[in-house]
Amino acid sequence: MKIVIFGSGLIGRCWALLFARAGNTVQLYDKEPAQLNGALDDIESKLKGLQSSGLLQGQAVADVLKRISTTTDLDGAITGADYLQECVPDIVDLKRNVFAQLDALVEKTGNSKIILASSTSVIPASTFTEPLKHRSRCLVAHPINPPHYIPVVEVVPAPWTSPEVTAETRRILDSIGQAPVVLNCEVEGFLVNRLQFALLMEGYRLVEAGVCSPADIDTTISKGLGLRWSFMGPFQTIDLNAPGGVDDYCKRYNPGVVRVCKDFGETKDPSPETVAAINAAMREEVPFEDLAKRREWRDNRLAALAVHKLQMDQL
Ligand code: NAI
Repeated sequence: MKIVIFGSGLIGRCWALLFARAGNTVQLYDKEPAQLNGALDDIESKLKGLQSSGLLQGQAVADVLKRISTTTDLDGAITGADYLQECVPDIVDLKRNVFAQLDALVEKTGNSKIILASSTSVIPASTFTEPLKHRSRCLVAHPINPPHYIPVVEVVPAPWTSPEVTAETRRILDSIGQAPVVLNCEVEGFLVNRLQFALLMEGYRLVEAGVCSPADIDTTISKGLGLRWSFMGPFQTIDLNAPGGVDDYCKRYNPGVVRVCKDFGETKDPSPETVAAINAAMREEVPFEDLAKRREWRDNRLAALAVHKLQMDQL
């Protein structure tokens, strides 16, 4: 397949390497030539990291890299392309302008079979594609950073996205080794942030109420719930937590689940004191100047986990 990545920042680079690793031809476009210059070096170093973890499927870095080229000629890139992944910053007006530009180019190049997917973390596609002639080709495909170690991608169609486009997007993402989850309709926050924010909000409330420290919340996840969450979700969890599976769990425990959930407080901004307390706890654990090192540590841990999960899948 011929793939266009529109925007060569943090996420665009990751998409480029994912598509190229799977054997596709990738054209990386950006309006800033300086961004493009830095992109290939960065992709090369990410590919080396994947190779040293055994996550390059036996390929040489140079072979993957040569499938990626940079371009500032968008017409040429879109001509004959199968799929475009937009990766510009999450600003509604920018997304509107970029998708209007892409719509016009689809018309001009006659490539009405291309899929136009946005990486947006929070903006539903209906917000920026409504007036477009080719809006049935548009949808959201939201990755999680860093997507070469975290495979889930949220696929969120707009009300006018063609079902074939949604199905083909799922197939394409599967084919590059990602794990697409397809939503039936748009919803604020999609899935990842709805689940993530529910937990974060309860963390704020517990710290604010003085029930526990910020570190206790993090330990509960990193040395507790998160251990199983790296290979099973909440429904798979409850299925194993009662002798008779989900049905049995619901009979035994749902009254307690509902009682506890009713005890959750109001959803509101945490107070400045709570934010200051969480910030102080975090700075004690990781000084501000060490945050970049800590991000590297996170990526190394994720790489090790990705290797472990790959090995488990092969058993
Ligand atoms: P970034 O700021 O690192 O990169 C954006 C790129 O877009 C830059 O290279 C910039 O030159 C280019 N750009 C801006 N306007 C342009 C235009 N009109 N034409 C062509 N290129 C243009 O942004 P990042 O972090 O890569 O985010 C991109 C998208 O990915 C956003 O929608 C974001 O929500 C989403 N995303 C980001 C994640 C993250 O952790 N950074 C995670 C998941 C999704």
